[in-house]
Amino acid sequence: MADELTPETPEEAEEPIKQRKNGLYPGVSDELAENMKSGWADTELRDLEPIAQAAETAARRAALSARFPGERLVIPAGNLKTRSNDTEYAFRASVEYAYLTGGRPDESADGVLVLEPTDAGHDATIYLLPRSDRENGEFWLSGQGELWVGRRHSLTEAEKLYGLPASDVRKLAETLREATGPVRVVRGYDAGIEAALTDKVTAERDEELRCFLSEARLVKDDFEVGELQKAVDSTVRGFEDVVRVLDKAQATSERYIEGTFFLRARVEGNDIGYGTIAAAGSHACTLHWVRNDGPVRAGDLLLLDAGVETHTYYTADVTRTLPVDGRFTEIQKKIYDAVYDAQEAGIAAVQPGGKYRDFHDAAQRVLAERLVEWGLVEGPVERVLELGLQRRWTLHGTGHMLGMDVHDCAAARVESYVDGTLEPGMVLTVEPGLYFQADDLTVPEEYRGIGVRIEDDLLVTADGNRNLSDGLPRRSDEVEAWMASLKA
Ligand code: GLY
Ligand code: MN
Ligand code: MN
Repeated sequence: MADELTPETPEEAEEPIKQRKNGLYPGVSDELAENMKSGWADTELRDLEPIAQAAETAARRAALSARFPGERLVIPAGNLKTRSNDTEYAFRASVEYAYLTGGRPDESADGVLVLEPTDAGHDATIYLLPRSDRENGEFWLSGQGELWVGRRHSLTEAEKLYGLPASDVRKLAETLREATGPVRVVRGYDAGIEAALTDKVTAERDEELRCFLSEARLVKDDFEVGELQKAVDSTVRGFEDVVRVLDKAQATSERYIEGTFFLRARVEGNDIGYGTIAAAGSHACTLHWVRNDGPVRAGDLLLLDAGVETHTYYTADVTRTLPVDGRFTEIQKKIYDAVYDAQEAGIAAVQPGGKYRDFHDAAQRVLAERLVEWGLVEGPVERVLELGLQRRWTLHGTGHMLGMDVHDCAAARVESYVDGTLEPGMVLTVEPGLYFQADDLTVPEEYRGIGVRIEDDLLVTADGNRNLSDGLPRRSDEVEAWMASLKA
C-alpha cells in the first residue's frame, strides 16, 4: 500500500523522495489539511484500569530509588530500528524500562522513565510519544501516525495505566541537556538521550545502574512468576502443536516446525523469546541451530528448543528431544536416558541456600560417569571432571537465569550470580545435553550425529523447587506415550 510518499501528480513524482517524506506532504491542499483536523469523535479512554503489575513496578522503582539517593536516573526503552529503507524491526522495549514501568510493546518506542531525586527519594515520570495530534497531520501523514500503525495512549490515559505522571518525550532530551546534578543512564538503547547526557555521565557509574537492575531481577516477584508460568504453559501447547504436525513436517522441513511453534507464540503471546531451534538429525549437535532449513526424517531425533514470550516479555526456555516417528532407537534411548539422569541430578540440586553452581556440577558428574562407562573417555570420573574432558560432548553450561531475557540478569556480578546462592523466587533452566558430532572420529559410528538436550524451567521455592515446565514429559517412555497420545 502506498503512503504519503506515493506521488499523486507528475510534478510530485519529480520530487526527491526525502523531500516528500519531510514535513507535510506537499500534495495535501490546505482544504484537505483543515478538513482532516476535525470531524472526529472524542475517543479518550476515561475508564482505564491500571496495568496488572502496577503495584510491582512501583515497588521495583522504590528499590531503585533507595539504591541511588540524590541522583537522576534515566532508563530509556529504546527506539525503532530500521530493517531496510522505511521498514522497522518489531519493537521490544529494554528490559530495564519494561521491568520498571510495565510499558507495553505497542507504545513504548522512544519511551524513557526518569527518576528525579527529591528530599524524600525520587519522583518518577514516564516520558512517551503521546497519542497522535490531530492538529499537525501527524496522525494520518506520518509513518508512525495513528492511521498507519495504530493508536497510542494519550498522556492522561498513560498516567492511569502506569500509575505514573506522563510527559511528552519529544521535549526530554532538551530538559536533560540543561539539567544539573548527578545523573546515570542505562546505555545502549537510545543514542539521542545518551547524547544529551554525554558530558554528565561516566561509563562506570552507568554500569552500576545496569548491574543493579540486573541483580534486582534475580529474584522474581509473584507477578513475574505468574507470567513465566503463562509463558511456559503456552510453550507446552506449542510443543503439542509440533508433535501433531510431525508427519507433515517430514514432508517439508525444520521450517514447518519453527512456523508451527511461532503460530502459537503469536496467537497467545507477544512473540517467541528467542530464535526457535528446530534441529533434526545431526543439526541437533549445533547448539544454536536457528537456520532450520533441514529435512525432518523418520528415524531421526528432533531437538526443539523454543519458548513463548508473554505480552509482558517473560519467556519460557524449554527443550525436548523427540523421536520423529515416535519411538527412540536403542542408541538414541541410551544417550537420551543419560541426559535425563543428568537432568534429574541437576534438578535435585536446585535448592534454596545451595550454591548456584551445584546443579551444573551434579549434571556434569552424571554425564562424565556415562561417558567413562561407555568407554568414550578414560576414567576415573574425577580425572575427567578435573580436566573437563566430558566437555567435548557436553559443550555448554547446564543452565542460566530466566526472565524477560532468555539469558536473564546478564549484567549481574559473578558473586551474585554464578558464584552466588540460590534463593526462593529465582527461576533458572536446567538443560544438560550430549552432542556427538557427525564427524567425531573418537566415538563409535552409531553415536555420530546424535544430539540430545532436555531443558526445563525451575522455580526455586522455600523448600526445594517447582518445575514450571512439568506439563511436558521428560522420561523417554513417557515422551513416547505422550507423542502417541497426541497422534492418536
Ligand atoms: N535457547 C537457548 C538456551 O537454551 O540457552
Ligand atoms: Mn536455556
Ligand atoms: Mn533453550
